Amino acid sequence: MSVTKETNEMHGPESAPGVFRPKVIAFCCNWCSYTGADLAGTNRIEYPADVKIVRVPCSGRINPLFILRAYQRGADGVIICGCHPGDCHYTTGNFYARRRMTLMFSMLDYLGIDRNRTGLDWVSAAEGARFGKVMNEFVQKITDLGPNKQLEDIRCKI
Ligand code: FES
Repeated sequence: MSVTKETNEMHGPESAPGVFRPKVIAFCCNWCSYTGADLAGTNRIEYPADVKIVRVPCSGRINPLFILRAYQRGADGVIICGCHPGDCHYTTGNFYARRRMTLMFSMLDYLGIDRNRTGLDWVSAAEGARFGKVMNEFVQKITDLGPNKQLEDIRCKI
């Protein structure tokens, strides 16, 4: 299957033919990053519509299986955003997230999924501009990496 055909099947009619638009899942903690995304929206800061935000109570709530599941369902990149270290509203959730992601990167290497497809960043509620910058840079990185082929054989066809 050519990249163009696959890309259009995966991303729908809004993709121009021949243009790869990555499917990016952003897990954002409710208290900082999601609010930062909200602020980016109210300040009309642009970031690609290819970013699909999943709101979670805290970055510490993110089970590594969520990330694998996103890849299994066709994501080209996954980014986790939480409060800055020391600012977690549940005190230590983002420290757990950071540790888990260290192990997750090793697991992704083992599975053959380029670790650069997965990101971890901190955005506070007052950093709407930073949220836009982080998302723009991440989407550009995933666009440069191209479509994710790993786990394609077990991908759900829903
Ligand atoms: Fe934001 Fe824990 S509440 S990372």
